[in-house]
Amino acid sequence: MSKGLSAVVLAAGEGKRMKSDSPKVLLKVLMKPMIEWVTTAVAESGVDKICAVVGYESEQLVSHLEKYKKDKNYDIEYAYQTERLGTGHAVMQAVDFLTGSGSEHTLILCGDAPLISGIDISEALELHRDKNNSATIISAVVEDPYGYGRIVREGGRVVSIVEQKEASIMQREIKEINSGAYWFKTEDLLNALLKISNANSTGEYYLTDAIGILIGAGKKVGAYIGDHFSVLGANDRKGLNLLCQVARDRIIDKHLDAGVEIVVRDGIIIGPDVKIGTETVILPGTILEGNTTIGCKNTIGPNSYLKNTFVGDSSVVNASQCTDSIIGSGVRLGPFSQLRPNSLLKDNVKVGDFVEIKNSTLGEKTSIAHLTYIGDSDVGDGVNVGCGVVTVNYDGVSKARCTVGNNAFIGCNTNLIAPVKVGDGAYTAAGTTVTEDVPDGALTIGRSKQITKENWADIKMEEKRKNK
Ligand code: UD1
Ligand code: CA
Repeated sequence: MSKGLSAVVLAAGEGKRMKSDSPKVLLKVLMKPMIEWVTTAVAESGVDKICAVVGYESEQLVSHLEKYKKDKNYDIEYAYQTERLGTGHAVMQAVDFLTGSGSEHTLILCGDAPLISGIDISEALELHRDKNNSATIISAVVEDPYGYGRIVREGGRVVSIVEQKEASIMQREIKEINSGAYWFKTEDLLNALLKISNANSTGEYYLTDAIGILIGAGKKVGAYIGDHFSVLGANDRKGLNLLCQVARDRIIDKHLDAGVEIVVRDGIIIGPDVKIGTETVILPGTILEGNTTIGCKNTIGPNSYLKNTFVGDSSVVNASQCTDSIIGSGVRLGPFSQLRPNSLLKDNVKVGDFVEIKNSTLGEKTSIAHLTYIGDSDVGDGVNVGCGVVTVNYDGVSKARCTVGNNAFIGCNTNLIAPVKVGDGAYTAAGTTVTEDVPDGALTIGRSKQITKENWADIKMEEKRKNK
């Protein structure tokens, strides 16, 4: 019996022309490492076990993937390729995974071709199973096939893949190319791996030779012609930039089709995992990253940055930055404010300009109009925070929390020295430094008494005149 589906992701390459200390597959397309695009597509297609073949800067890559797989609950293991001797050699390093997985079919694909889609992978598998193929290549038809392996067909049937360097002049005219992704019957792949040699112009073990080998052994091989983006990879920073542009446009198109209002595309970058509800308006200068989820009828931007942030419905985020935070419905934020990680703005909160919130909760309808820092605090519902309020949450050694009760009024330029609690409906007078808890409904005033010296200016002028 078959035990699920497996995939081997080839990720040992260095990508010299990127001029980066990171493994190539960790370079990002629209703020997401290329290998995560690939593993997302793989997981979408129902594959449950992944083996990454790692080599260049493998420690960095493995530590990244270890953290990532925990977040996503993916099953990822590793095979090490110490010398880069070609794609066939890379798969040979994963033989233990292939024999141990128990999967009848295995997907092999490149970690540096991020735009392959889960749909193409699934449809290719369907064809692979329906036709009882030993191998099914995901191919694409492109205008400029230079550099790619060509799919050689005879009478319509796939007979081999020939690499650019090995191709005859006639074969170089072929526009159907190998994406580098294939479904194999695991057992047939294992047998073919034993026969791949490096007797070619580069001395590398080509995985693509497995196709000719299987056909030679009387097995069936087919190709699924996928979307031409699935082949796009990047060999240098210009190529990476092109991938970003292609991905950016595709994502914007997807949101437009889903009813999001994007007035112009310029300056709008939306990551692949972002979700946006209908009739939300995204204005220029806005970057939406990570697992950001935005509801309906919001206005985000201009010039806003949201990372891993949730927004309810009918809220406004204007020229502000939000990271790892939650914004309710009917909230108005900005311009020029920041939500640092773990901030929660409940429904109908109003936060104006030059306000920083960190690791804090603001209750419903609370209003902070301007120039305020709220850190490590729990602020209740209906609170009014005046201009220039500071929660003094750090004593140089440790952080402490402030609590502000419902409907409290925090006067301008109040310092709340944590840990301290202001009760429900309590008031702090402007300029107060609050060091002790304030009971419910009380007014606290903590400032020196005002002294007025009458005619002081005239007296000063007189002194000045005398001293001349
Ligand atoms: C490969 C295919 C080619 C296909 C193209 C699609 C072969 C021989 N050729 O060529 O038919 O059109 O992909 O992009 O397979 N890798 C390793 N270890 C190695 C060599 C490569 O892990 O020793 C990894 C790379 O990191 C990369 C992937 O395999 O993720 C593809 O390798 P690359 O060298 O880019 O292959 P291509 O020459 O582009
Ligand atoms: Ca390549």
